Amino acid sequence: MKEIKVAESAGFCFGVKRSVEMAEKLLEEKGTCLSYGELIHNEDVVTELKRRGLRIAASPEDIREGESVIIRAHGVPEATVKALEAAGANLFDATCPKVKHIHKIVRAAAEEGSAVLVIGMKNHPEVEAICGWCGECYTVENPQETETFLNEYPDFSSKPLCVVVQTTQTLGNFNNCIKIIKKRCTNAKIFDTICLATSTRQNEATELASACDAMVVIGGRHSANSVHLAEICREHCGNVQFVERAEELDLKVLADSSIIGITAGASTPSWIIKEVRNKMDELKVEESTVFEKAAEAAEETAEAVKETVTAAAEEAAEEVAEAAENVAEAAGEVAEEAAAAVEEAVETAAEEPAPKKPESDSFDAMLEETLKPIYNGDKVKGVVTGISSTEVTLDLGTKYTGFIPTTEFTDGGAKLEDAVKLGDEISAIVVRVNDVEGTAMLSKKRLDNIRFWDDLEAAAEEGGVVEGTVTEQNKGGVVVNVKGARVFVPASQTDLPREADLAELLKKTVHLKITEVNKARKRIVGSIRRAASAERHARAQELWENIEIGKKYHSVVKSLTSYGAFCELVPGIDGMVHVSELSWGRLRNPAEVVKVGDELDVYVIGFDKDKRRISLGYKDPEADPWKIFRSQYNVGDVASVKVVKLMQFGAFCEVVPGVDGLVHISQLADHRVAKVEDAVKVGDVVDAKIIAIDDDKQKISLSIRALLEGEPAPEEAEPEAEAEEEAAPEEA
Ligand code: F3S
Repeated sequence: MKEIKVAESAGFCFGVKRSVEMAEKLLEEKGTCLSYGELIHNEDVVTELKRRGLRIAASPEDIREGESVIIRAHGVPEATVKALEAAGANLFDATCPKVKHIHKIVRAAAEEGSAVLVIGMKNHPEVEAICGWCGECYTVENPQETETFLNEYPDFSSKPLCVVVQTTQTLGNFNNCIKIIKKRCTNAKIFDTICLATSTRQNEATELASACDAMVVIGGRHSANSVHLAEICREHCGNVQFVERAEELDLKVLADSSIIGITAGASTPSWIIKEVRNKMDELKVEESTVFEKAAEAAEETAEAVKETVTAAAEEAAEEVAEAAENVAEAAGEVAEEAAAAVEEAVETAAEEPAPKKPESDSFDAMLEETLKPIYNGDKVKGVVTGISSTEVTLDLGTKYTGFIPTTEFTDGGAKLEDAVKLGDEISAIVVRVNDVEGTAMLSKKRLDNIRFWDDLEAAAEEGGVVEGTVTEQNKGGVVVNVKGARVFVPASQTDLPREADLAELLKKTVHLKITEVNKARKRIVGSIRRAASAERHARAQELWENIEIGKKYHSVVKSLTSYGAFCELVPGIDGMVHVSELSWGRLRNPAEVVKVGDELDVYVIGFDKDKRRISLGYKDPEADPWKIFRSQYNVGDVASVKVVKLMQFGAFCEVVPGVDGLVHISQLADHRVAKVEDAVKVGDVVDAKIIAIDDDKQKISLSIRALLEGEPAPEEAEPEAEAEEEAAPEEA
């Protein structure tokens, strides 16, 4: 499972945001405006603004009288401001107040007769602008250049020197440079003018890169702060990708990383961060709370800025900026804090939650919904409005029309007419948004695939059981097809005995637990054994929870002993049918009626949950011979009985199958009988009168003599007969 962490500070800084919003506002009001140079170092944002009417002026000559011109966040030299004013430009100064503050520092230094040394990138617009607000100005990029500069201009060992640093420089580089300056110059005034937003972003990048296996830095190639971020990340992480947008992201490089960090330069908009993050969904990822916070915060911030803060925050920013600048003039270091306060004030304002959308389906709410942008990688839902042989068209409820080409519908390339109908609701992933055409190409199969892997991962995590068909057997085990995915089950996990032939599983439907999912390598491993064991456990538990006297089970005879048959009720749980419970007849051994492997319908006649013992009955209570006898005969009835056994004291006769009665020797005839065999023999069928029934002992007394004319009442013979019968051998 991969984890993605997005730096909370990733994305637009206050200054960049302010300049972009200024441009957006002007474009909205006037339909067109110019920026002096690229507004920010992000091609996508600038392209989008250009699409809305922004033009780029490279020099004051490009400007016509009265045109609105934005000075970008990096600022411009004083001479440029003057040239623009002279050209009749209607100026909108988006110079970041923090940069403006540096202008004031260097100007004051110049007025005091001090030279200025800027630590920063020589050709960077911000550095060029700073140099344009003072007189004698030099630039060094690193400690080596600082040494060279001081060697070249040894006078600065005592001459006044004002040192400032480009807002986006790293603290490390700045510290290394000033170490040299402090050592060699006695009259240097050093101002740490690194922007707080930059140092926060860099500190976070350091922490993140140290904790991650891979880092993705998003930013423009010409963006100094993004380049520095990538440098910082490379110092702490061996796998760093610097990309400008999602398409440049190489997922293969991230395949083996389990924790991936994302940070972004100050000129990277939240939607590009979101697209990069969405693309990573193709890797297996664990939702990161940091990301959620950062992405949502970025979204919310953007929304909030757009919807509520624009006017208020700008006013606040300008007012506070003014205040900060005044303070800066009074005391340089205090101004630094004031500038930070500016940022804080505006950022706090910007982070105010966006006003809640009206819950009703008001026209405004619906309009807002339709204007909502969608981005590559977003999950969307739409209603089918058209079906052709090549694509399905969807109403996404936004300004974009969605379409899913056949190839993106399912893996199998389903016939669209059969797969969907008009009005169906379909979810899909946005693959490509075309703003010019107002269309969004979607992929249902990619979403299905993501969900499928999600399901597998969830199954692996939660120990859930999936179903599949065994399609292949190989040296190490078998392959099970689970919804089109190949799941390998090692031989040891098949639940077959070691010596068994794995081929016997082929084409069988099996249940298995997913034990390993490696999406990057497309490897899924499962265990039939674990699923079977879990199933056994669950069934056993269910049995013990629900067992009750009389409950019936379909069982299989697993083993026989001389005293009973052990029957499996559910896998792993056996009960015993005592030999006496196997049949209504008399049995010497259970094997007379059942054998191992027989399937028996048994019922519970007793159980002990603690000792895990279950006694079972097999005889059908409805077939109880005594019941049958009692349903047919009463005392006084005459039955045709069969002599089954002769004893000294009388003859046992079968009245109904399984129920015998005794004809005492005294009841065999109307005269005295010396020996029982003198009157009847085994196998004879004779009529006998039922002269007594003992339901408790299930005994019957019969009399042939009672049927003979003029004979005395049978009751006289009963006590004697009973006593002898009690003394009869068991088998009688
Ligand atoms: Fe951004 Fe201004 Fe700092 S432009 S990086 S907030 S100096």
